[in-house]
Amino acid sequence: MSTTSNSILLAPYRLAHLNIFVSDLERSGKFYADVCGFKEVFREPGISMIFMSNGNTHHDLGLMETMEKARIGRGGHVQASSGRGRYPGLNHLGFEMETEKQLVDSYHRAQERGLKINRTTDHLIAHSLYLSELNGFTLEFYADVTDDWQAVYANNVGELISGDWDPDASEPFAERKGGPAAELFESGSAPIRARNVAYAGLPVKDLAASVAYYTEKLGMSVTSINEADKIAVLSGAEPGRCDVCLVETDEVPDVRLLFGGVQVHEGQPIATSLAALRAQGINATVIGDGDRGALVVLDPDGIPLVYSTEPASRLLEEHGASIVEEVARLKKMTAAAKSNVA
Ligand SMILES: [Fe+2]
Repeated sequence: MSTTSNSILLAPYRLAHLNIFVSDLERSGKFYADVCGFKEVFREPGISMIFMSNGNTHHDLGLMETMEKARIGRGGHVQASSGRGRYPGLNHLGFEMETEKQLVDSYHRAQERGLKINRTTDHLIAHSLYLSELNGFTLEFYADVTDDWQAVYANNVGELISGDWDPDASEPFAERKGGPAAELFESGSAPIRARNVAYAGLPVKDLAASVAYYTEKLGMSVTSINEADKIAVLSGAEPGRCDVCLVETDEVPDVRLLFGGVQVHEGQPIATSLAALRAQGINATVIGDGDRGALVVLDPDGIPLVYSTEPASRLLEEHGASIVEEVARLKKMTAAAKSNVA
């Protein structure tokens, strides 16, 4: 288990999920299942949300349908105030802490030092705190509180699972929960065989200030910095990973996310995935060389995803700038194709 310096407010273990707003919940659920190989594991009709996971954790992807009105959870807990989530794109990044005790200690340090916590939530499977980082992106830090998230889902079919959480209400778990990894699901038929969400690319206005914030306040480590392209790759405490790619840019994309990064199961050549996607009329391109590269794909709302079997650290270090360029090119190409059809 990693140690946490008292000077650091939080020290996440890994990026575990992306939560995104989508304009059509069923269309996106089908896309992420049939095209990207994720499995639906739970849904909350009351807030128009689908959870998708391949066994790595209780959800790799949270899909929430866009709406004007507030999303109200269990017991009146406000999960999103009215006006938030009107447009497709990033809702939040979900970072896992190793233990609930680390999360609660972090909560107290944040309180003592005036770091604003937007809300604290009991999801039954995990306890969470949410904050707005330097650039205004919402980050969730959570710790699992059950070893059997599948049972929680099974016992709450159709119900709301998120309510208020008082971090001081009970003694936090000092050991890591979440249980043994469930047997990983691998789609045999999807063009892309996603394994887990691994990293995310965020647009930032000031790279140096953002790196300082992510390291000094959030307790992440720098894996690499590319000064020429203004890209920094950062990692949490889990060895061998990288979780966030910060890219300095003046242009924040409409979906507020440069890309979501997905690790895919070994064994399927990228060329096979590419051909299968194109056969379905889905625009996709390859960055890098052959199976050491990555597939860039836009979801139905234009949210960019990067799929690769390569370790993200090497991929982002070598191809970070190309991925950002390719996403922009693909978005323009897709927009042009749509306007031609119209
Ligand atoms: Fe979340």
